[in-house]
Amino acid sequence: AKAPIKVAVTGAAGQIGYALLFRIASGAMFGPDQPVILQLIEAPFEKPLAALAGVAMELDDCAFPLLKGIVQTSDASVGFKDANWCLLVGAKPRGPGMERADLLKDNGKIFIEQGKIIDAVAADDARVAVVGNPANTNCMIAASQAKRLTPDRFTAMVRLDQNRAQTQLAQKAGVDLTEVKDIFIYGNHSPTMFPSFAHATIGGKAAADVINDKAWLEGPFLETVGKRGAAIIAARGASSAASAANALVDHVRSLVTPGAIHSIAVKSNGLYGFDPEVWAGMPVRTTTPGAYEVITSYEMDDFAKSKIAATNKELVDERSFVASML
Ligand code: NAI
Repeated sequence: AKAPIKVAVTGAAGQIGYALLFRIASGAMFGPDQPVILQLIEAPFEKPLAALAGVAMELDDCAFPLLKGIVQTSDASVGFKDANWCLLVGAKPRGPGMERADLLKDNGKIFIEQGKIIDAVAADDARVAVVGNPANTNCMIAASQAKRLTPDRFTAMVRLDQNRAQTQLAQKAGVDLTEVKDIFIYGNHSPTMFPSFAHATIGGKAAADVINDKAWLEGPFLETVGKRGAAIIAARGASSAASAANALVDHVRSLVTPGAIHSIAVKSNGLYGFDPEVWAGMPVRTTTPGAYEVITSYEMDDFAKSKIAATNKELVDERSFVASML
């Protein structure tokens, strides 16, 4: 039997946590023969910690054969201890009237501390995936604190945007969504993201030819994907949680599956015209479990370049708000 892997999850008692932990424990993230130990981290307050105890009781009550242990803690140095995967879901939400710069700084404090602790106590093969918003910049902040773990270990999630874009293209073309391939997300997980339709294929043909509606691709398609989060809040009265948890399952599952081609936000190193120091969504191919190479072969036309420039500018601005903290 395989040794269990240790999976730390912050914000474990939140909405996404509630939709995520059961999928991890059932084997959806690491496979049906990979035991896991869940190391659940919550904010040090009575309410979230009580809720966490309830979630842990429900995990017990599922009798998942792969679940070999549950740690509940508000101490990050306990929660991240020897973790092979650190899933950073918890973040401070934007309060009423709060400025974007204040949100960035408040989250900056959280991710500076978590980055330091992960670097100090997590396993040598630790990988970090950031979901808590602003995800790209939070990821950049956590990575900036690491000396042992290299920047490539830190990724942020744009997979929900990729999945949304895939479904929109399939619905427009009237085909099964498995026919849609190579739709990737560039840039920030925010409405400025760019889902590059120019390289997508539908049934093996160029998606733009199959859909044959440039105005739709450059307008409503980008807008629908970019503003999908807000549309869900408007409809549901709460932000997307199950689909976000599902996207994190996909993000990690693809990262542990050699040959998988998918979008993640990584340190750009200047690829695709991004500032070298920002974390930007781009296409990658998983090489060995947890490792990947950026796919650099896609040519960008002027429309794509202008979209990438806009999302890059937002990432550079976000970085400048927190630069003095790093
Ligand atoms: P939520 O508010 O339901 O849960 C967040 C949890 O994090 C709370 O239980 C809170 O107590 C906890 N928390 C706060 N600070 C913490 C800390 N320092 N350490 C440990 N736990 C802490 O929020 P929800 O809906 O689960 O969303 C979580 C985050 O994911 C939000 O920032 C949200 O904006 C983001 N998100 C990102 C998406 C993406 O595609 N990248 C998609 C959807 C949501």
